[in-house]
Amino acid sequence: MSEPEGLGDVPAPVMRAQLHRMADWVADYREGIERRPIVPRLRPGQVTAGFPSRMPERGIHVSQVLDSLDQLVMPGIVHWGHPRFLGYFGSTSNGPALLGEIAAAALNVSAMTWKTSPAATELETVVLGWMRDLIGLPSGLFGVVYDTASVAVVHALAAARERALGDVRGEGLLGRPTAPVLRVYASDQAHSSLEKAMVLLGLGERNVVRIASDDAFRMDPAALRRVMSADRERGLRPFAVVATVGSTSTASVDDVLEMGGVCHEFDAWLHVDAAYGGAMGALPEGRWVMRGMERADSVVFNPHKWLFVPLDFSALYLRDPVILRDTFARTPEYLEGDASSPGADGQQAIDYMDYGVQLGRRFRALKAWMVLSTFGREGIVSRIREHCRLAASVRVLVEDTEGFELAAPVTMAVVCFRYCATGMSAEDADAVNRRIVERINGSGAAYLTYTTLRQRVCMRIGFGNMQTTEDHVRDVWRLILAEVGRLSSSDTSPPTSATIS
Ligand SMILES: Cc1ncc(COP(=O)(O)O)c(C=O)c1O
Repeated sequence: MSEPEGLGDVPAPVMRAQLHRMADWVADYREGIERRPIVPRLRPGQVTAGFPSRMPERGIHVSQVLDSLDQLVMPGIVHWGHPRFLGYFGSTSNGPALLGEIAAAALNVSAMTWKTSPAATELETVVLGWMRDLIGLPSGLFGVVYDTASVAVVHALAAARERALGDVRGEGLLGRPTAPVLRVYASDQAHSSLEKAMVLLGLGERNVVRIASDDAFRMDPAALRRVMSADRERGLRPFAVVATVGSTSTASVDDVLEMGGVCHEFDAWLHVDAAYGGAMGALPEGRWVMRGMERADSVVFNPHKWLFVPLDFSALYLRDPVILRDTFARTPEYLEGDASSPGADGQQAIDYMDYGVQLGRRFRALKAWMVLSTFGREGIVSRIREHCRLAASVRVLVEDTEGFELAAPVTMAVVCFRYCATGMSAEDADAVNRRIVERINGSGAAYLTYTTLRQRVCMRIGFGNMQTTEDHVRDVWRLILAEVGRLSSSDTSPPTSATIS
């Protein structure tokens, strides 16, 4: 019986030609990215309006689809990879990572059990070990890859909940009238993913207790101890603490060692959010951020924030992976033949599906392996160090320019600062700082963010893109000064388009 016509994939020669075209497209995009305005000038719905409301009835030639990429999609892109995009933590894309993404998409394996893809499973273990050693985490920690730190903290707290109450897996939370209310503690600088995790776990966001941070935006361990004691006296159960190493706004670093001591006193789980700041541990001069990590029950680290592995890749490391495995492992009948294969040395192979809610799992380790291998430890370290140097250069500019002040200590590659001219009220300064960021971002020439620290608005620059250089920093500083000049002369003209010459 012959196959019906029109089935199967795009013909191989056509696909080969389009892959070559795509390779050029990607290389051109990356080479020419600086000439693009970073942010498109669009209203919501404008991208949608370019697309037909129904999918095509008959397929379109793949070359035409690629044309539409330029015509319909690209005008709606914010160019995170632009070297003057200094919002959030920068962008971590690069050549070797792209190669890894293409290969992973072509292979399209699911790293759910060892048998369903031994290489995807074992490379995940290898890469997690390389990263753990690179950033200086304790060697005994077991790692697992998720998409994001937000998902990692759900898993960490699910394990903590299991340890605190026992058999939530089996019994659930409802129908346990005698169970205590579980409370988790973090500084006022910790990431909001913690509240979401508590919502998802049925523990309630009101049971996240935020502890005021000190002048350097670090958790005060003495205050932590006081609040946990008071809660315990009220019959609540302090079950977990989240320490942050590299907070989102300022990259502040909590005292993990001290907090670990407090957790020990209360038999509470210590989760460390090193999503951004973990990368700092790769630098000998940054290794201090790892102090106390041996006390952590779990640590999350996001190579997609500052280790040049593009979105998404988040590593959760655990001291006792068995508790996580006992919380989630479940093998449906149809997977029994593919699960838990004995390893070559007699050990059980790892089935990563057992360490979380996800069954199908992308081969994320491939891109990470390509990045780490291509740049090597030295290459990674020198790029992270360069980002810290660029941040230090911004700090000097802030300190040396009248009217500007640092809003937080610079510990890594994030700088928070504020413009406040002599005689300007704090409220006016808030509006001015917000306006500077909005005007620069609106111009398309650069991208910053603002954040609020101690109720005051300040500008924030974060480095993470390996293409960003000192020249880009100078450009961005010129733009900031130009906006300050314009706002001081009350010029309300709309921001100009990309004006870097
Ligand atoms: C310190 C910290 N933790 C967690 C997160 C959440 O990360 P993700 O986007 O991977 O969920 C962020 C995001 O910026 C962060 O800065």
